[in-house]
Formats: sequence, C-alpha cells, structure tokens
Amino acid sequence: MEENKKIIFSGAQPSGKLSIGNYIGALKNWVDLQDEYNCFYCVVDMHAITVKQDPAELRRRTLETLAIYMACGIDPEKVTLFVQSHVPAHAELSWVLGCSTMFGELSRMTQFKDKSKKYSQNINAGLFTYPVLMAADILLYNADLVPVGIDQKQHIELARNIAERFNGQYSPTFTVPEPYITKAGAKIMSLADPTKKMSKSDPNPNANINLLDTKDEIIKKFKKAVTDSDALVKYDVDRPGIANLMTIYSVFSGKTFDEIEREFEGKGYGDFKLAVGEACADSLSVIRDRFDALIKDKAYLESVMKEGSEKAARVAYKTLSKVYRKVGFVPPVR
Ligand code: TYM
Repeated sequence: MEENKKIIFSGAQPSGKLSIGNYIGALKNWVDLQDEYNCFYCVVDMHAITVKQDPAELRRRTLETLAIYMACGIDPEKVTLFVQSHVPAHAELSWVLGCSTMFGELSRMTQFKDKSKKYSQNINAGLFTYPVLMAADILLYNADLVPVGIDQKQHIELARNIAERFNGQYSPTFTVPEPYITKAGAKIMSLADPTKKMSKSDPNPNANINLLDTKDEIIKKFKKAVTDSDALVKYDVDRPGIANLMTIYSVFSGKTFDEIEREFEGKGYGDFKLAVGEACADSLSVIRDRFDALIKDKAYLESVMKEGSEKAARVAYKTLSKVYRKVGFVPPVR
C-alpha cells in the first residue's frame, strides 16, 4: 500500500447475482484502477439487509461476491479487499454522520423513493439512512474517487455534502470524494425492458446477464433481448434497446460504435444479437472458470477476508478516533 497514491473506495451489495451491469458500471473499472490507486474494495453486506435477506443465502452470496471480485481480476495483493461487517467502524462512523445529515436530504434520495415503492411492506429506518452508511464507507478511508454506475451518483453527492458540512462544523477532517463514472456503461439497461436499469434484484431472469451464466443462457437471453422493429444496427439514444446492446458489445469486443455499425451493415438483428452473445460469453467464461476454482478454496477466501479486514480496520479506526475526538467524546481509558 503506497502512501502517495490517491485513494479509491467502492463496493457492491451481495443482494443478488452480480450482473454485467455491475461489471461494466463498476467492477471492470475497479480492476483497471487498481494499479494506479490505493484501492479499498468492499462487499457491503450491511447494506444488503435493508431489504429482507435469507441469512444462509446472504452468507453464501457474501463469499461468492468476494470470489467474483477476484475472478474479475481484483488482486488482493494490490488492493484492500474486505467484508463491510468485519470492520465495525463503518457502523460507528455512520451514527456520527447521521447526526450531520438532514431528514430532508435523505427524503430526496431517488433510490429511497424507488425502493419504498418496491418494498412497501418493509420501509425500515435502515433503508432510509442507507446513504449515511454509504458516506461512512467512503469517508472512513478518505477516498478521493468512488467508481460507480450513474445510479449511485446522488449518494456520492450526499457524501460530499456530509463531508463538507462536518469539515465546516468542526475542522478539516474528511477528503471530499468525487464520483468516477465512465461514459460508456454508466447505466446498462435491462434486456427485457431497455428503459429500465439492469438490476441484480430483477425477478425476470431474461432481464439481466449474470456474471456466472453459461454460454447457452447468455446467447438465449441476448436472442430474446427487446429491441425495436427497425432492424438497423445504428447507435441512437432514442432506440434504447439497440443502443444498450451496442454498448455491451463494444465493452466485450473492444470495437467502437463506428466499427460495429460497419460490421453489421446490411445484416439483421439476428446476426448482431448472436455476435453480442458470443463476445459476452467468451469474456465471462474466463471469469466463470476463475470463480469455480476460487469458490472451492474456502480457506483462501477466509485468509483474504481476514487480511483485508485487518488492513481496512487500521485505516478506518484512525479516522474514527479523529472524528470521536472532534465531536467531543471523552477518549476511552486504556
Ligand atoms: P449495487 O450493489 O447496487 O451495485 C454495485 C455497483 O454496480 C453499479 N451498477 C450498475 N452500473 C451500470 N449499469 C447498471 N445497470 C448497474 N447496476 C449496478 C452500481 O452503480 C454500483 O457501482 N450503494 C451501492 C453499494 C455501496 C457503495 C458504497 C458503492 C455501498 N457503499 C460506497 C460505492 C461506495 C449499491 O447498492 O451498489
């Protein structure tokens, strides 16, 4: 861990199977940034319980998510890789920051409004204060940059406001973080409804491509992907289905939109969807193979979690004790 490198924090919830939306919007960038930055990547299990989770499933998915991070190319030798609930400072800082966050600010969070509609039987306080915990995740490590998809931008803006408010009320304490959002792939859309975000909690299995799907499943889902009836492979934001498939193809094949348009000139959607499916399946097969090996090695995963949480906790507690001092808590007598 080099001291002079800028700092990155990011995480994903183990609340479902990670999709190519998570990969293109976040994980792929995490991998690309890991050499240049001092990175903290976290499986945010505490966020996941804001909606009901089966405990055994959550445990299994937390380990799987950690293995998927590594299968995608995250190297635990280069980054600090850990599970959120293993570092209690996240919850502790969240309480303090909650006291610098306004009810009105949290009420404006679009994800809270969406999730309150979706989970109307369980609008719990955690769902409401979730962005404060997310701010604590980021601010504990004094992250400069937070690589995410566009859906998380509003939460990062809130984290910035909380940091600035705290710094102003006490004295400079936190780095004010910037979102890192790439233009291509900031929002990968559902294959079943290209006006909606691809989401790992979507109950329709044809809506998303999971990172561990087989080649057959991937090809089938792309074949069924909803597009318009123009049958013209041309990038146009007003044709969200085809624009989404072109974005996905571009990420997995490395081709530009111009090259893709030329490749499919005079050809129909059938050929195009097959090519998207094959390019995606080829890339994901590498991830799946690595995942299969990693998930069998529980001792290794446990050693990664242990080392990661120890490294993270050292940094986190430095920040937390500074914060406790600034707000006026009497230091514990040791
Ligand atoms: P989560 O678990 O919903 O998603 C993980 C990451 O994937 C991105 N993403 C997408 N990007 C492009 N297209 C999509 N369809 C798509 N779906 C998801 C998300 O933007 C995210 O970057 N609150 C966060 C987790 C979190 C976090 C943090 C992130 C907790 N603490 C601190 C950064 C920093 C979340 O629910 O992500």
